[in-house]
Amino acid sequence: MRLILLGPPGAGKGTQASGIINKYDIPHISTGDIFRKNIKEGTDLGKKAKEYMDKGLLVPDELVVDLVADRLTEDDTKKGFLLDGFPRTVAQANALDDELNKLGWSLDNVINIIVSKDDLIERAVGRRICKDCGATYHIKFNPSTIPGKCDVCDGELYQRDDDTKETVAKRIEVYENQTSPLIEYYDDKNILLNIDGAQDIDKVFNDVVVALRSNN
Ligand code: AP5
Ligand code: MG
Ligand code: ZN
Repeated sequence: MRLILLGPPGAGKGTQASGIINKYDIPHISTGDIFRKNIKEGTDLGKKAKEYMDKGLLVPDELVVDLVADRLTEDDTKKGFLLDGFPRTVAQANALDDELNKLGWSLDNVINIIVSKDDLIERAVGRRICKDCGATYHIKFNPSTIPGKCDVCDGELYQRDDDTKETVAKRIEVYENQTSPLIEYYDDKNILLNIDGAQDIDKVFNDVVVALRSNN
């Protein structure tokens, strides 16, 4: 299965990704996670990306496209992949089409998670992430058993630098201007699946599985 997860900041892409990659046994490719890893390791790419991420802006296309193209040539993508947070501009979507053409592959579906703006801000601001294993929690909607500690590995939970109310609002604006045109882009290719993201996490996942089943 070759899939894209589309949706505004805080919609639940990362949360749904963990269920999807388990069920379909495909690698999770999140450009946001790749950038955060580079920031943590202090690489040049991380330093450049951080300037944009901290402001809630998109990292320039030229820093993203080659990174994903390279990742798609790794061995594990032969069984499929789940792209999370890429593409985010029409230019990135065109570049992805070119890359997939070269590889002789096509996309199966684009899962578009829909959530209202007020919910997005509450979700992102209350998000907590494990610094060791990356598991994602929410202080209200999906709390860890012991506050501040990961259920999976006992690691410490932290808040993303770009999860302040102001930066989340900027990210949503950027999504509306630069990323939302992709909804039509993929709808025109008849591969878009719209999913109501304003439901419990398990219910959203169930809807994703049902939609994928009836379209493949
Ligand atoms: P990225 O890391 O991709 O962030 P994002 O798209 O803004 O999305 P988020 O990760 O914030 O949200 P999510 O949809 O994954 O939600 P989650 O599941 O965590 O990108 C970060 C930055 O990197 C960008 O701003 C940009 O600068 C740069 N970047 C990345 N890719 C790029 C690209 N291709 N081009 C250019 N720049 C790029 O859930 C959120 C919270 O809600 C969690 O606490 C969760 O527990 C909770 N939650 C989830 N589902 C539910 C539910 N159903 N009910 C209640 N709560 C829920
Ligand atoms: Mg995410
Ligand atoms: Zn953990």
